[in-house]
Amino acid sequence: MSNRLAGLLAALLPLATFATSAAEPRTSARIASPDARITVEVTTDNEGRASYAVSRDGRPVLAPSRLGLMFTDTRKFERNLAIVEQATRTQDERWEQPWGERRQMRDHHNELRVTLAETAGPKRRFDVVFRVFDDGVGFRYDVPKQPGLDRLSIAEELTEFEIADAATAWWIPAFEWNREEYIYHRTPVEEVGQAQTPITLRTVDGLHLSIHEAALVDYSGMNLARVDGRRFRAALTPGIGAAKVEVATPFATPWRTIQISDRAGGLVESGLVLNLNAPNALGDVSWVRPMKYVGIWWEMHLDRKTWASGPKHGATTAHAIRHIDFAAANGIGGVLVEGWNVGWDGDWFGNGETFSFTQPYPDFDIEAVTRHAREQGVTLIGHHETSGHAAHYEAQLDDAMALYGRLGVQAVKTGYVADAGQAKVRSDDGALHYAWHEGQSMVRHHQRVVEAAAQHRISVNPHEPVKDTGLRRTYPNLVAREGARGMEYNAWGQPGNPPEHEATLVYTRLLAGPMDFTPGIFGMDTKSGTPMATTLAKQLALYVVIYSPLQMAADLLEHYESRPEAFQFVRDVPVDWDDTLALDGAVGEYAVIARRERGGDDWYLGAVTDDTARTVALPLDFLEPGRRYTAQIYRDGDGAGWRTNPHAIAIESREVGAGDTLSIAMASGGGQAIRFVAH
Ligand code: NOJ
Ligand code: CA
Repeated sequence: MSNRLAGLLAALLPLATFATSAAEPRTSARIASPDARITVEVTTDNEGRASYAVSRDGRPVLAPSRLGLMFTDTRKFERNLAIVEQATRTQDERWEQPWGERRQMRDHHNELRVTLAETAGPKRRFDVVFRVFDDGVGFRYDVPKQPGLDRLSIAEELTEFEIADAATAWWIPAFEWNREEYIYHRTPVEEVGQAQTPITLRTVDGLHLSIHEAALVDYSGMNLARVDGRRFRAALTPGIGAAKVEVATPFATPWRTIQISDRAGGLVESGLVLNLNAPNALGDVSWVRPMKYVGIWWEMHLDRKTWASGPKHGATTAHAIRHIDFAAANGIGGVLVEGWNVGWDGDWFGNGETFSFTQPYPDFDIEAVTRHAREQGVTLIGHHETSGHAAHYEAQLDDAMALYGRLGVQAVKTGYVADAGQAKVRSDDGALHYAWHEGQSMVRHHQRVVEAAAQHRISVNPHEPVKDTGLRRTYPNLVAREGARGMEYNAWGQPGNPPEHEATLVYTRLLAGPMDFTPGIFGMDTKSGTPMATTLAKQLALYVVIYSPLQMAADLLEHYESRPEAFQFVRDVPVDWDDTLALDGAVGEYAVIARRERGGDDWYLGAVTDDTARTVALPLDFLEPGRRYTAQIYRDGDGAGWRTNPHAIAIESREVGAGDTLSIAMASGGGQAIRFVAH
């Protein structure tokens, strides 16, 4: 039986068992993972306050941590709670990703639903639902409709996460003006302030944890505020009114997730966040097309061209056609054109009401450009920069998507450049409000955009986005996002991204989902003159290390034309995979990732290191036993290093098999890329 058939059968016959009990109020409830190693225990104390604790192999991972919700218009859910019901359930289901870092997914968990009811006062009730997987835990609040609770005006979640052991944390600050675009801190957990999620922790025992959320729908993003010691409390992103979240009951919050692994790579391989998202809601999504793209882009970031009209305007018809022809000649599916539409003149930053999403500048013949693209089998990647003015964009949304749909544009990059807290949305009464990028109103906005795009079979790639929480499972046209410091910081310099940046992203931001990082810089001259912390081989490795179904070849075309040997890897590397393995690595130090191409037998490997040059001995036991492969190796050349010699690269071939061990040598700030061509 083929794997595919086996997966289908398993999906049709989910193994589900139920057990419910509603006898005497109890003070505790427990559930374990399918392999019995992870346990969650929910307890109430003598004042009726509820907590949960997580342990693994009998050792605490999260010490007892508080549960609860606080409202703006009624008393909080926190005291006088009793466990009045508990129900358990097992699920073991296979499902398939239409595109992704892996095709076959397995959702195997044990669920515990605990009903907490107030023993005094209004006697309201709510459920907390835990799902325990072999690689971690997800839980959420599920509030039924009940007298006096038709709506929830949530002031704050009282959810806590108390890390049981001393740990190192990798984190970026929350509520700062530059949104998610900060260099990661690496500190003892006791030195974390207010952090965004995902946050990554490594305990003194070497256990790796990632705290994040799944299925952020119609709610505010969750941040973590350290209260004291190793205790964190949820800090929801503010809303546009007194409440951080306004919803009607019945309502379930997003899942709060804790991924747990001995290996750093175990976090990367975990499917927990996707498993906690709802299945595909769009039906046939065969029109969603993973692809590489080039674009009229890097040259703006280097100040050689402008988004604005004028003598240096980048988005001209001729320049776009040059990019389309280059893409077609190199098997690249898309061409991004930024600055094509009216609104970029003057101070576009934070001034979104000037943008038209349907009117091109006169020197950009959008009909001719898209016609030429279609003839070449290439699609334009559309661009909607909003400067954070979501309300202005929404007013044009349907027309904007209809135009792209008519022209055969298959994907659009959206952008929300504005300081945190300076996005603009309208409330139901039509009033304009300043909003946080991850507040409930922006979460709703992004959902509208994704749905409007889907109507025209368009995929979406938001920059300055809401963080990824695995919604690509439900909306497979939500293909990628930015949401971290991308390559553009290297164009600007002062400072660019540090040499450990990518080896940090793998185990932090990228745990949330695909990132439009925009790799592939061969030229390496920066606006400020500060050197980029990379080698050429590392730029190639990023195509494997950083997963995204939309993957840019971000450099100027002439830089690819002048280095055709290195560019061959960019031409070859796929963007869609059957399987992904995080073979070796340490958070913020190095990462070795291997992926097997979708529907093929070739494997690709990417390895990146921080400032430290290192050699990793890598057993090739992931290759098919007994089969021979030609390893096409792109490694840092003699004397390579990011400070003085970033371009030195050695390209060579070797015959290898699963029994061999390769020595992966990387220069300071360097990396290595390999294609294993199956015989
Ligand atoms: C920020 C985005 O990250 C970048 O890619 C884009 O070029 C600018 N905004 C302009 O939209
Ligand atoms: Ca950005």
